[in-house]
Amino acid sequence: MKIISVVGARPNFMKIAPFIKEIGRYNENSDCKVDHILVHTGQHYDDRMSKAFFRALNIPNADINLGIGSGSHAEQVGNTMIAFEKVLLEHEPDWVIVLGDVNATLACSVTAKKLHIKVCHIEAGLRSEDERMPEEINRLVTDRLSDLLLTPDMLSVENLKKEGVPDSRIKFVGNIMIDTLESNRSQAATLSMNDIIKNNIIGDQNNKDLKLFDDQTPTFSLMTMHRPSNVDHREILGPIIDFLSNEVTKDMILIWPIHPRTQKQLKAFDLWDVVKNNKRIYLLHPLNYHEMLKLNMEAKIMLTDSGGLQEECTVLGTPCLTLRWNTERPITLREHGGASVLVGNNISQIRNEYIETLKLHRSPERPKFWDGKTSYRCLNAILNFSL
Ligand code: UD1
Repeated sequence: MKIISVVGARPNFMKIAPFIKEIGRYNENSDCKVDHILVHTGQHYDDRMSKAFFRALNIPNADINLGIGSGSHAEQVGNTMIAFEKVLLEHEPDWVIVLGDVNATLACSVTAKKLHIKVCHIEAGLRSEDERMPEEINRLVTDRLSDLLLTPDMLSVENLKKEGVPDSRIKFVGNIMIDTLESNRSQAATLSMNDIIKNNIIGDQNNKDLKLFDDQTPTFSLMTMHRPSNVDHREILGPIIDFLSNEVTKDMILIWPIHPRTQKQLKAFDLWDVVKNNKRIYLLHPLNYHEMLKLNMEAKIMLTDSGGLQEECTVLGTPCLTLRWNTERPITLREHGGASVLVGNNISQIRNEYIETLKLHRSPERPKFWDGKTSYRCLNAILNFSL
């Protein structure tokens, strides 16, 4: 059997790592081998957004890099389709495996389907019901076209059934990101906070006290933010920055690994100096997987608009404020036993929930099949698929 797996952006890398390892294990123990080709669309291309993850998670170099890079959504999707079609025509795989909800997921599922190649979507069935989110469009189209839909939880199974997807195409396998978390948490735990901060602090922040981490870890909040809905409008980003610099930093320091999109926008809105000049905000480059995991294990509170971090907070028990009005991952919300609460981007709501969340302690949770064995169930479902 020949399989092409596709990755494009940062959140794909931690999902593909355990799947590739699983193929390796299968090939060692089986006579009938899986021929696997890894394609990177090149949507994320910075060393810190891409190569650092391949290295840290021992992902083999992509066999093919489409070199797509930045651009509008139509440019990224269109250029990926044109380049990926050539790859499919040359290699004629039996399956194309797409992950998550990034532009590569959409582009490659459509291209494969038009060439009558079977598509498997890992992390199928998530729905935010918010079609203004580019990722929601990617999820809807990919799930509509996929032959095999592998879901992380039962809520996603229900979503697919409501949309009329036949049972025979849906398989509940669990959360593949948690395979990566489980196999890397002990390594992450050994990292020194001191090293993480010193190795990643963005230059020109001489006002930060780096000795703070020398002997013990101070209480800190951890922030990540990159969604266009939060960072592309000054009237939304400005008040969030005010809240961070005037309120959160009164209680504790804030560590903020900055996504390239966010850095660009802060500079465009003249907010970069505000955060940089604040002695209590530590601005870091994007971190590698283990570094981010270590910070998540140690943080008092997470503020994020990332979907993956909501999931990791649930398993690690880190109290989390999700800076969004909705989530495609409701299983991570406190009302479903998770660690996170939706706060949108309205400051009084963020403030209220922040105050309540500071009273909470770590409380790790493990939804069904978030057990580190999802990649095994994924490969099994693909190998045994029949309609
Ligand atoms: C993408 C995904 C999103 C995911 C996020 C995590 C889509 C639609 N969105 O959003 O689901 O949560 O990645 O990171 O696929 N840039 C760099 N270097 C890079 C990559 C990007 O400087 O290595 C810059 C680009 O120039 C661009 C901006 O960052 O202006 C945003 O990148 P883009 O790929 O458009 O989407 P993300 O916001 O990263």
